Formats: sequence, structure tokens, C-alpha cells
Amino acid sequence: MSLTSISLNNFRNIEAATLAPEAINIIYGENGSGKTSFLEAIYFLSHGRSFRTNKHRTLIRDSQPHFTLHAKKRSNNLTIPVGIQKDTHGETQIKIQGKASRRISDLAQVLPVQVITPESYSFFFGGPKERRAFIDLGVFHVEQEFFVHWQNFNKVLKQRNALLKNKPAELRTMLPVWDKEFVRLAEKITQLRESYIERFKALFFDRLCTELELLNDLEIDFNWGWKRTESLADVLAQNRDGDLMRGYTSKGPHKADITIKTSLGPVETAFSRGQLKLLLYALKVAQNSLIEKETGKQSILLIDDLPSELSEDTKMKVGQLLSRCDAQIFITTIESQSVSAVLETLARPKALFHVKHGELITR
Ligand SMILES: Nc1ncnc2c1ncn2[C@@H]1O[C@H](COP(=O)(O)OP(=O)(O)OP(=O)(O)O)[C@@H](O)[C@H]1O
Ligand SMILES: [Mg+2]
Repeated sequence: MSLTSISLNNFRNIEAATLAPEAINIIYGENGSGKTSFLEAIYFLSHGRSFRTNKHRTLIRDSQPHFTLHAKKRSNNLTIPVGIQKDTHGETQIKIQGKASRRISDLAQVLPVQVITPESYSFFFGGPKERRAFIDLGVFHVEQEFFVHWQNFNKVLKQRNALLKNKPAELRTMLPVWDKEFVRLAEKITQLRESYIERFKALFFDRLCTELELLNDLEIDFNWGWKRTESLADVLAQNRDGDLMRGYTSKGPHKADITIKTSLGPVETAFSRGQLKLLLYALKVAQNSLIEKETGKQSILLIDDLPSELSEDTKMKVGQLLSRCDAQIFITTIESQSVSAVLETLARPKALFHVKHGELITR
């Protein structure tokens, strides 16, 4: 179950390209040739947005009215065509198996796609948003009910924050009503996240870290967004005056986070950059494996500029990790030889593509 065909039209510097990927795909070429753009296109097909920019116009090839992306996914002898088109006005058209769809989440369901870029360090150094998004992507794929609860929660959060900010006359009677729904949905979301993280940790530690003797001595903690020994209803009540002053809700699942530490302290200060990168690979591979184990959906892993900042030894470890992963993998690199240490450990069928000035040539 993987992408068997991908075509791009007027995406970034790529005018037109159609290719037939394998399980492992290497895309190589000079700076500015279009490697990251190609990964960005696959990501867009799943997420309906880029991992580089929110400005959709920059994705459309110079002076063109729109870009179009198509892919075919094979799953249990069934071919599922998917497509997305975006024009300069921001209008999006989505098609799945020939039928128009209005929801990006339908595409995301068909294609679980994760990306690792040289900027992915922000996962450890940045705020909790990215770490929360990582967990939620996993929960989204394995727990059908999660998305609706999450959407509804965000609506309630928005309403609650609007009340806190605008402070209408009827605030005192309205707030408890919203709080009740807030707590109900928060508990559902947190329960699903908690159970997912437990399963994730089991797989991450047993199957990846211990077996591969990588990254010993790690601990992953899940922070719910409020103290887990306290009831959320009490927490909201205790923080009501503070929240009114701030004009937003300070505690709840929208503040959830995971922390990863070793006996030397949080990984972001205890680990070197190479070690952090390896850890990131391990986290993504664990997530892919869990999604696959629980849903049977093969996921796609995009790795932009894999060799950057990695010594040969770490590249071998990355290879070891990737060999435990059944995802379809797309790797970009400037020179194809610089990923040979990774490829040696990967036994699955491979394809090599050369990108030159936006043209993709199968080697
Ligand atoms: N909307 C657009 N229309 C035409 N060209 C574009 C557009 N957006 C970006 N480009 C160009 O596309 C080229 C490819 O960029 P991309 O980031 O994919 O290169 P890359 O191969 O990943 O390079 P690097 O090795 O430096 O990371 C760049 O030269 C960029 O200027
Ligand atoms: Mg690039």
C-alpha cells in the first residue's frame, strides 16, 4: 500500500513531472533544483498546506493560475486516485476516487504523511504547538472519534476565550455552561491522547530504543495542559479571575505538551544536534509504525536533506531505524553518494530521481 504514481503541474519551479515511486526514493540535485518542492507537493497532498509557508501563492509556479497535484495510492489491490488543485485566489479543489471533497481531513485520512527537515529541531526547542501536533497526528489516524472531539473542543475554546475577552453582562451565567462542555470534550481528547502516548511509548522504547541500542536512558512525559491530580472543572474555577484578566483560557488540553528527558536533563540541552536528529527520526518512525500497526495504513515519510549535519556513524543508525519502518520513504540529498550509508541497510526496492531546474528524471 503506497503511492504508485505522483504528478505535479505548476508547483513551485516544477512545470510538469510524473513519476512512479518505489518503497524507497532518493531525489538528488543541486541547490535550488526543486528537491524540497517535490517533498512539499507530497506533503500538500495530505495536509492541504505546505510545511514551509502559509502563503499558497508562493507555491504556484510564476505567473500560472493554479497548481495541480495528483497521486495514485495502491491499497489491497485497489488503486485510490487523489488530487488537489489550488489557484491564486486560494480556492482549493480536492478529489478522492473521482469524487469531489471539501475536507482536507479526507485527504489526510487516505495519506498519512510526516516530514523531517533540517529545521525540524524546532520540535525540541520551540513551543509545545509542534509537539502537540505530532501527538495529535497519531491520535487522528488511530482514533476515528478524535477529530470531531478536537474540532468541537476548538470551537468551545474559541467561544470561551471570546467571553473572557469581551466580558459581556451575562458572563457569569454563560461561563459555567461553556465550562461544562469544555471539560467534557477536554477529558475525551486527553483520554485518547493519554492512551495513544502509552502505546506509542511501548513501541518506541521496546522496538526501537532497546532493540537498536539507541538513545538509552530516555523518559517521555505527557503534560495534559493542567495538573493531572486536579479536576479540570476545579482548575477552570481556580483560574477564572486570572483568565478574565488575561482574556483567554490558560489551562486545558490546548496547552498539552510532551517532555523528553535523560538523566542529564531535557534532551534539548543534554543531546548534541546529531543525537537530537536521530531522536527525531526515532519518534517519527515509531509514529509511522504505530499508525500502520493499528490502522493497516501505510504512511509516507519525507526526509529533506537527510545527510545535513550527520556523520557516517549517525547515518548508519538512521538507516537502521528506517529499516524498521514500513513507510514509503522519500529522501532528498544534493549528492546521491552521501546517503549510501543509509541505503545499504534498506533492503526494499529503490528508485533514484535526478532533479535539474525543476525537471525530474528517473535514473
Ligand atoms: N512559485 C515559484 N515559481 C517558480 N519558481 C519557484 C517558485 N517558488 C520557488 N521557486 C524556485 O524553485 C527552486 C527550487 O526550490 P527548492 O527549495 O525546491 O530547491 P532545493 O532543490 O530543495 O534546494 P536546496 O538544495 O538549496 O535545498 C528555487 O530556485 C526557487 O527559487
Ligand atoms: Mg531544499
